[in-house]
Amino acid sequence: MRARPSAILAATSAVGGAIPACNVYTLDQAAGVVEAAEATRSGLLLQVHPDGLGEGIWPLIAGLRVLADAASVPVAVHLDHCADPEVIARAIEAGVDGVMADGSRASLDDNARFVRATVDLAHPRGVEVEAELGRLSGTEDGLTVEAREARLTSPSDVPGFLVASGADLLAVSIGNVHGSTPQPPRLDLERLTAIKAAAPCPLVLHGGSGLDDAQLHAALDRGVRKVNVNTELRTAYRAAIGAATSRELVDVLAAGRAATRTATLEVIGRLRAAGTADLVGSTAPAAAEPRRI
Ligand code: 13P
Repeated sequence: MRARPSAILAATSAVGGAIPACNVYTLDQAAGVVEAAEATRSGLLLQVHPDGLGEGIWPLIAGLRVLADAASVPVAVHLDHCADPEVIARAIEAGVDGVMADGSRASLDDNARFVRATVDLAHPRGVEVEAELGRLSGTEDGLTVEAREARLTSPSDVPGFLVASGADLLAVSIGNVHGSTPQPPRLDLERLTAIKAAAPCPLVLHGGSGLDDAQLHAALDRGVRKVNVNTELRTAYRAAIGAATSRELVDVLAAGRAATRTATLEVIGRLRAAGTADLVGSTAPAAAEPRRI
């Protein structure tokens, strides 16, 4: 069944876990992710990144809504990293449950203004908004330590930003990195503690792939409630498809789906999300707002 992200987050919060926010590119991949969530009774967020899929993003969102509606566990559909107001508006129109208004490349004030404009559009339609403060590095950025440090979320910026922007969720930059790295990234956990003390809303950790359990669990213990995972799932799907020897397309797709299921089971375990599906609704979600779609 489809559910509001905040309702699923409230359930994961109750057990000190995080919602698996799984990036998907195809419906087969998404089906493998949903199967894992159903097998473990985990709440789930299916998310799509606006880059790379072109116009294919719109039928994918429509298909994800169908998968979410049909699932036996609560699933929300979310637009990942988007800095384009027109794409955000179209995704809301297409029926996503959450959007990430990514103003992290802008100044603090412009970021807050962009998120506020998104909130004003999204909230009356029952859609929740994630913002990012600070900016995540990619593995390829080749930054100096000082330049990397300057991109981290500053805890003192958090209260004013949240009031000005009205964001429901805050993605943090604490040394986490998108993509795979030779060594697991080192999270600045002291900074995370200070951010949580300043942030009344749930925190989001991007770059969930390749983080060791100790750091991941330390982040959960400090208030991270949504963890984005892309590379691990994409790699498992791609590897299984590449290794499949059958000449039958349906067999190749089934191999990708099975590998995605296995990879997602691991993610759900690491995020302590198993069983959270059955808590959704018994914890206190945000007040229901009317949906236009
Ligand atoms: P990874 O590719 O490192 O898992 O990061 C995913 C992510 O943060 C998507 O927003």
